[in-house]
Amino acid sequence: MEKIGQVLIDEPTLKKRISELGAQITEDYRDKDLIVVGILKGAVIFLSDLVKEIDLPLSMDFMAVSSYGLSTHSSGVVRILKDLDQEIEGKDVLIVEDIVDTGLTLHYLVENLKSRKPNSLKICCCLDKPSRREVPVNVDYVGFDIPDEFVVGYGLDYGEKYRNIPHICVLDPAIYKK
Ligand code: IMP
Ligand code: MG
Repeated sequence: MEKIGQVLIDEPTLKKRISELGAQITEDYRDKDLIVVGILKGAVIFLSDLVKEIDLPLSMDFMAVSSYGLSTHSSGVVRILKDLDQEIEGKDVLIVEDIVDTGLTLHYLVENLKSRKPNSLKICCCLDKPSRREVPVNVDYVGFDIPDEFVVGYGLDYGEKYRNIPHICVLDPAIYKK
């Protein structure tokens, strides 16, 4: 593959942190009815590694919401493209997301899912860019705080590409200025 930028988080570092997160979540949800809700498509690779580290009989569901399209900044418009398959009333819901940037996507999702009366609702994200926050979001489990740079790989895309890179890379600005 072409060189697309500098490695920010390599595979062994991701793996180690995800096993820590999985152990923590296992502890916290021991007597609960856990549903892991992955946000398509960015969270898919993180989620599939994370659930293997959670030693509980959880279930999985997915939602798809509109986000950036081709651009590298948020439009602020959130639309549900695919909703959950199951009811979450009385369940313990853990939203799994790739990255929290402005917070607009998760802010909307939390309000939406709360109205369905889960027993509990928490958020786990692989990456957090705290300096970019526009609306407050309470993220319960964070893989890594990262600086304000556009990253790809490990599920994260630019124009639907680069999700399959096995580590997190800072996208070379030359690629989006092309
Ligand atoms: P937010 O609504 O601004 O918090 O953005 C959340 C969504 O924007 C994420 O789920 C990603 O799809 C996308 N996003 C934000 N920052 C990046 C990035 O650095 N690389 C790739 N996608 C990003
Ligand atoms: Mg995206």
